Amino acid sequence: MQTCLFLTLLPTLLCLQAHALKIACSQMWIEHTPLAYAAKNFYKAAGDTASITNGGVPNLSDSSVDLAANAETQGLKNYAQHKNYRLIGIIVEVTYRLVANKAAGIKTLADLKGKRIGTIPGTSAEVFVRQLLASAGLADRDYTAVSGNVCMRAPCGSGTFPAQLSSRQIDAFGVWETAVELGVRALGEENVVTFKNASVYREVYSLYTTEEKLRNAGARQRIVQFVRALNQTYDLFKGSPDKVYDMVAQTVGIDVPVLKNVWADHVWGPGSLGKDLVDYLEREDQYLAKTDRRQAFSRAELERFVDTSVYEEAMQG
Ligand SMILES: *[C@@H]1O[C@H](CO)[C@@H](O)[C@H](O)[C@H]1NC(C)=O
Ligand SMILES: *[C@@H]1O[C@H](CO)[C@@H](O)[C@H](O)[C@H]1NC(C)=O
Ligand SMILES: *[C@@H]1O[C@H](CO)[C@@H](O)[C@H](O)[C@H]1NC(C)=O
Repeated sequence: MQTCLFLTLLPTLLCLQAHALKIACSQMWIEHTPLAYAAKNFYKAAGDTASITNGGVPNLSDSSVDLAANAETQGLKNYAQHKNYRLIGIIVEVTYRLVANKAAGIKTLADLKGKRIGTIPGTSAEVFVRQLLASAGLADRDYTAVSGNVCMRAPCGSGTFPAQLSSRQIDAFGVWETAVELGVRALGEENVVTFKNASVYREVYSLYTTEEKLRNAGARQRIVQFVRALNQTYDLFKGSPDKVYDMVAQTVGIDVPVLKNVWADHVWGPGSLGKDLVDYLEREDQYLAKTDRRQAFSRAELERFVDTSVYEEAMQG
């Protein structure tokens, strides 16, 4: 986009090249909403514009895309093919939950042996379910994984996990919110048991770019500026959620009371990009390498994947 200013005092036609930062992510989930908020409210103030389009990490192979957001699972899966991808920030860490029907005889995680458990293959939701059950000593063959769809707002149609849970097609399911909360509501809080364990699995929904973008001075400057805008947004999400509930609910099409019930499981903000994150990614990568039949990344490869330099630069500004 070009903006031309005619200055009356000077016989000059001044043309400024205005840049639009292009961000690819799924716009269906709660996790992406700080990107939308920062683009609309804080980044514009810096003069440039940012636009959000549907997609995710795979779109970084298109050089017109500057940034992408996804769970760490998709980040790691794509890094296997594209060693130039970089994880440059954490947007939110979410403790996923698994909801189970007490009437199916489930009180503890170990009771899920032999049960039918809903989740989405190849996503962070499956990684969560498999790791959580493994923490209770259950191997993949000890239960049946059943795929289904996420529901974000009631009424949940057939084929969605909350509907499958109430019709007893499944005994439990684990996926991102608000689907789990809607599963709890579908059966009634007194009739379900929920499980979570952030040290076994939490989604690390992150911001990604490429090595090439970070080497390009103009693109890098815009990305640093956007990270500052995001940082202003986290303050609001963390400190004054009452100011953002309506926007988040409207953006992803969910009900505010349901959103409020799951808010505490969302830890907004840059978190720590340090050693703990690399340790966490290393553990998940051990698991993904097996299921995706590839070699696990070396420690050095994972350390290159997590690039802290943009945050460091943003802090100095
Ligand atoms: C991202 O990739 C998907 C799948 O290839 C495609 O449908 C979509 O248009 C892409 N989005 C952008 C922003 O390029
Ligand atoms: C969470 O998982 C860790 C590691 O398996 C375990 O030590 C801890 O007891 C679990 N916490 C709960 C609340 O179950
Ligand atoms: C983000 O904001 C916090 C305070 O709200 C501040 O301490 C931190 O330096 C900021 N980081 C960046 C990258 O701007």
